[in-house]
This record gives sequence, structure tokens and C-alpha cells, in this order.
Amino acid sequence: MAGRRGALIVLEGVDRAGKTTQGRRLVAALCAAGHRAELLRFPERSTEIGKLLSSYLAKKTELEDHSVHLLFSANRWEQVPLIKAKLSQGVTLVVDRYAFSGVAFTSAKENFSLDWCKQPDIGLPKPDLILFLQLQLVDAATRGEFGHERYENGTFQERALLCFQQLMSDKTLNWKVVDASKSIEDVHEEIRALSEDVILCAAQRPLGELWK
Ligand SMILES: Nc1ncnc2c1ncn2[C@@H]1O[C@H](COP(=O)(O)OP(=O)(O)OP(=O)(O)O)[C@@H](O)[C@H]1O
Ligand SMILES: [Mg+2]
Repeated sequence: MAGRRGALIVLEGVDRAGKTTQGRRLVAALCAAGHRAELLRFPERSTEIGKLLSSYLAKKTELEDHSVHLLFSANRWEQVPLIKAKLSQGVTLVVDRYAFSGVAFTSAKENFSLDWCKQPDIGLPKPDLILFLQLQLVDAATRGEFGHERYENGTFQERALLCFQQLMSDKTLNWKVVDASKSIEDVHEEIRALSEDVILCAAQRPLGELWK
């Protein structure tokens, strides 16, 4: 496998769709099958920028909306050297939320165009596969109460979902919509199979640049 790059696989979807559950499971299954795979998540709360974002999400800090959007993007950019290094070493990265969440959540706010929201993330490593875990908001509600973080409410999630739908109409990206209302095991199996295919394909082609 020397010289083969890893695949960049992103999990997106509304709150409680199962991104974290599936991300962990996918990495475990890929490793068990002999791949090198690791999990990343955004926001990455451990960095200085990540700590600011964590405090903002916990509603302990107020930040201006444009400014916080750029900080979420910066939090992805600061991981790019690591992402590129891992991929080039042949490690497949499974990422729990990425630029699409960043864009969907800001453009769900008043007076933010999708186009403006995409700008700072242009040129990030382009995912080889984006798994959108599709779940009706009413079904998500059966998976427990909303948490107490910012953005965790029904109206906001609905607006964000509309933005995700606009982003998914972009045919330059490899979106796969997965029915996240199925059992954890069935969703996992579908995601695992899609990921195995994309790992083979990604090894043959260079990493792309998002929205370029
Ligand atoms: N397919 C499923 N069927 C039923 N329950 C599920 C399924 N997948 C996940 N869950 C449960 O739903 C809850 C939310 O799952 P998880 O934390 O993985 O979602 P998430 O998309 O990461 O949410 P968030 O956006 O809030 O981080 C958890 O209690 C999890 O056990
Ligand atoms: Mg999660």
C-alpha cells in the first residue's frame, strides 16, 4: 500500500442524526479490516481557537456572527497540515462535521448568503466522500432532548437543513445521502461499504480542493 493516499470521508447531518456514533464505528470497522483510519471532528475544541468556539457554543461568550464564522473556518484550516500529512501517509480520515456544517449554520442566520459563507473554506482539502445522514427533525427529536448549546433548537435546525440541501445540489462533490432512520447497524453497514469503495478510488487520484 506504500505511496497510496488515504481517503477523506466526511459525516454531515442535522443534530442527533448519528454522526458521532457512525464516525466511531466506521473507524473501528475500517481498522479491523486492515485499513489505517482515524477520526477527526469539527470544531476541534482542543486548540486556542477551538476553546473560543467551545465557549461560544456553550453560550459563555458572545462573538460577532461574521467573526465567529471565520473562527470556525480557521479552526478547520489550522488542522490542514495534519490532514494532508495523515492522508499522504495513507491514513483514511473520517471527519465528524466539516465546512458544510460551518456554512449551513451561519447561513441559517439572518442576512448571510450561502456564497459569502463558503468563501473562507474555499481550498480546504476536498472530501472524497460526504455522507449526509438524513433524518427528519421529528425523528431526531425521538433521540432525546436538544442539548443546551447554541444552535440546538428546532427552528434553527430547520433553517440549517435547507442550507444543507442547497449545498448537496453541488454535483462537483461526492455526496451520498444515507437514510439515518434505520438501525445503527444498518446505517453502519451502508456507510462502511461506501467508504471501502471510496478508499480504493481515492488511492488512485490526487486530493482535490474544496469549491475550487
Ligand atoms: N440509527 C440510530 N437509531 C437510533 N438511535 C440512534 C441511531 N444513531 C444514533 N442514535 C442515538 O441518537 C443519539 C445521537 O447520536 P449521535 O450523538 O451519534 O448524533 P450526532 O449526529 O453526532 O449528534 P450531534 O449533532 O448532536 O453531535 C445518541 O443517543 C445515539 O445513541
Ligand atoms: Mg455528534
